[in-house]
Formats: sequence, structure tokens, C-alpha cells
Amino acid sequence: MERNDRTLALVLAAGEGTRMRSARPKVLHQVAGLSLVGHALRAAGTAGFSNLAAVIGPDRPDVAAEIGRVAPGTAIFEQRERRGTAHAVLQARAAIAAGGGTLLVLFGDTPLVRPETMRALAAAAAEPGCAVAVMGFEAADPAGYGRLVTELGELVAIREHKDASEAERTIRLCNGGLMALNGEVALALLDAIRPDNAQNEFYLTDCVALARARGYRAQVVLAPEEEAMGVNDRVQLAACEAILQRRLREAHLRAGVTMIAPETVFLSLDTEIGRDTVIEPHVVIGPGVRIAAGAVIHAFSHLEGAIVGEGASVGPFARLRPGADLGTGAKVGNFVEIKNADLGAGAKVSHLTYLGDATIGAEANIGAGTITCNYDGFNKFRTEIGAHAFIGSNSALVAPVTIGAGAFVGSGSVITEDVPADALALGRGRQTVKPGWAVTFRARPENAAKTKARTPKGG
Ligand code: UD1
Ligand code: CA
Repeated sequence: MERNDRTLALVLAAGEGTRMRSARPKVLHQVAGLSLVGHALRAAGTAGFSNLAAVIGPDRPDVAAEIGRVAPGTAIFEQRERRGTAHAVLQARAAIAAGGGTLLVLFGDTPLVRPETMRALAAAAAEPGCAVAVMGFEAADPAGYGRLVTELGELVAIREHKDASEAERTIRLCNGGLMALNGEVALALLDAIRPDNAQNEFYLTDCVALARARGYRAQVVLAPEEEAMGVNDRVQLAACEAILQRRLREAHLRAGVTMIAPETVFLSLDTEIGRDTVIEPHVVIGPGVRIAAGAVIHAFSHLEGAIVGEGASVGPFARLRPGADLGTGAKVGNFVEIKNADLGAGAKVSHLTYLGDATIGAEANIGAGTITCNYDGFNKFRTEIGAHAFIGSNSALVAPVTIGAGAFVGSGSVITEDVPADALALGRGRQTVKPGWAVTFRARPENAAKTKARTPKGG
């Protein structure tokens, strides 16, 4: 979407989230592989807002770090005491005063708001004569929400549930929490808010009545109830996850990805999948995964932080960990784990293997049961395998070690020294064969009796 530097998008994230019953602050809980506060910031970025700020609770370096990770450059303010949504907004006074354009207030615990809705709010608040735009929705059950009080179709006030009269509580049009303020009057309105209400808090929602009293209009931007969904406990967290997963699956299906049982596939917000890729049932895709076109992710595979090249095949039962990078047409089969390793085009790792901290050349064939021994308990070391190399089954490659292009490693080898290109390396005990040994062994007096007893009847 078009860039908009005239809007300051301010995310409120100072809530305590006691109902989460968690050692972690609420806004760091994740849905679709991203923190709740990350969703608000990302959606604001997608909407085109580059001027971002956030208000966080006191002594929360973890929240500040997550905000910096998702949206570097976000101005961060602390709210030392939790005195209400308007009080929280005012902690960012310096940014609001410097902004001058539109102030868009977002909640750090409301991850389903679409970028389009954010833009519509900012645009409505910037219309001539308008000072406030509020995201409204028709609530199936309005209990707990602020009610949008209208007169002749005009928004005149927002009444918090706890302060509402019996008549006002029958209103189903509710405040989704998001609000855009005309930057020229925002601070004047915010400074006029008093905590004279049931909760003794500074309500951001009072902006509406205050704007009307000054002769401005207030507008409602209607959104589906789903977008207003906030997270206060883990039941709501799971409900948001379900909605986001449904949205993500649908977007990928529409973009040309096949999913045989989409309801069993779990995606992340940043998942990228190319056209004609097939995702089989029961696949989990964590953050940071890019899958090219025409790939197949077979059933029961788990991917995170991985790149899958065009036409590559993964699974069933494969695990791709961060830094796995599969080239075009590469194949990773069942019970294979790949971490921080590049697989060249057409390389095959078909069964029961661990490749970590490794580079595998194009068309190399890694036999079943191969293990890169990359860790000595203190440090990690790399394994380099050249193009067209052939690693026999059940080999242990003790890193750091290099296997040259086209080299062979005999199966069952423990390879501790580099293998030159096109060489054969055998790192295992030599087999000895003693003809007839078993006959002599069985004939020993102490074994003979037992042998008879063990011989099956008629056998
Ligand atoms: C708010 C709205 C209500 C609306 C509802 C929608 C107000 C007064 N009420 O109520 O009309 O229907 O959202 O979900 O705005 N926060 C701070 N510091 C504070 C207080 C809140 O950072 O001192 C943050 C919270 O972390 C949260 C957001 O502001 O992200 C909303 O606060 P919350 O207490 O959940 O407001 P509600 O009572 O749900
Ligand atoms: Ca809330």
C-alpha cells in the first residue's frame, strides 16, 4: 500500500494481561508465529504507516526488544502507572506533538485488525470538520465493550460498559478500540479528558464527546466483529489463532497453493509459498519459511526458518530447522532433520539422517543413517560435501571435515579426515570371515546340550 508519513501509528502495549496467567507479558504471546504486538506493528507497516510509536509497561526490555525486532525505528514510551487508555496515549506526547498529521491509536492485544481498516480510520479522521474516527462493529454479545451512542446517525459519545445506563447497554454497535484523531486537535482533546467514571481511569473514548463539544464531527468506520477481537486470556488467544490460520490458508489457496486438508496445515504470517506447490495434510510451518514453486511438502513435516527450492520434495516426517536451504529439486525424505545446512540442486537425503552445519553439493547422495557430528559439547563445526559425492549408509562425518566432489564414503564409516575428490574413504573395521567356525562352536560340550534343546520339533 501507499506510504503515509503523515500518520503516527501508536500501539498501546502497557497492559498487564493478568488473565493470561503467564510469566510473559500478554503482548509477547504469539499467534501465527508472531507476537501480538508484532501483529499490530506489521499491519500498520502494511497499511503504509512508517511513523510508528508504542507505549509499553515499565521495565519491559523484552517487549521493547520485540518491538525493535519487528519494526526497527519505532519510538518507545513507558507508562509507569496504568491509568487508562488516554493516559497511555499521552505518554507518547513528544511523538504526537512532533507528528502534526493524524494520530492512529492501535491496541497491542488486538491482532486481527486489517491494514485496510487502519487506513480507512486514518482517512476518516482527516476529513474536513472531523476530529475523531472510531472502529465500530456489531457485537454478537456487547457486554464489556464501549457502546457507540448515536443521534440521527451521528456518533455523539462512547459509553464504557461499566458506565452505561440500562438503555445504553442494549446498543449493539460497539467500540473496537481503534481510534484515529485529527493531529491538530489530538493533544487538546486528550488533555481535556478527566478520570470521572466508574473505573477512575482516563478513557480515550471520551475524545468523541469532547470533539463534539468543540464543534467537530466524529465518524464510525464499520468493521467485521472478527477484527475487533482482543486477546485477554488463552481461550481468546486460541480463537485468534484459528481465525488467522483460516485467513492464511485461504490466501495461499487463492494464490495457487494446493492443500489437500487445509484445516490440518499450520502457517505463519510470514510464510511464502510458490504456485503449484502441494502441502499434504498435517504440516506445521513456523516463522521464516519460504517455499518455491512446484515443491511438495509431504504429510507430517515440520518446517521453521527454512528455504525450499523449486520442485524440491520434503517428508513425509521431515524436520527442517532454521538455516535449512534446499536447492532446486532437492529431496529430503522421512525422518531426516536438517539444520543450518545448504543442499545443492538435486541432492538427495532420503532417510533417517541428521545434517547440521553442512554444505552439500549438487546431486550428492546422502545414504540412510548419515550423521554430521557437528558438536563436541562446546563448539559447532562444519561438514562440506562436494557435488555428486556419495555417502554410504550409516556414516558418521566428524566435523570439521570435507568430502571432495565425486568422492565415495563406504557405508558404516566414521570419517574424521578430509576425503579428496573422487576418492573412496573407508573408516570402519575390516570384516573377517572364518569358514565353518559356527560348526565348531556349536560342537563344544557346554553348547551341544543347549543346541539340542533349542532345535524346534521337526526342524
Ligand atoms: C477498550 C475501550 C472500549 C472498547 C474495548 C475494545 C477505552 C476506555 N475503552 O476497553 O470502549 O470497546 O477497548 O476492546 O478505551 N492500555 C494501556 N495502558 C492503560 C490501559 C490500557 O497500555 O493504562 C492498553 C492495553 O494494553 C490494551 C488497550 O490499551 O492494549 C486497551 O485496554 P483495555 O484495558 O483492554 O481496554 P478495555 O477495557 O478492553
Ligand atoms: Ca481489552
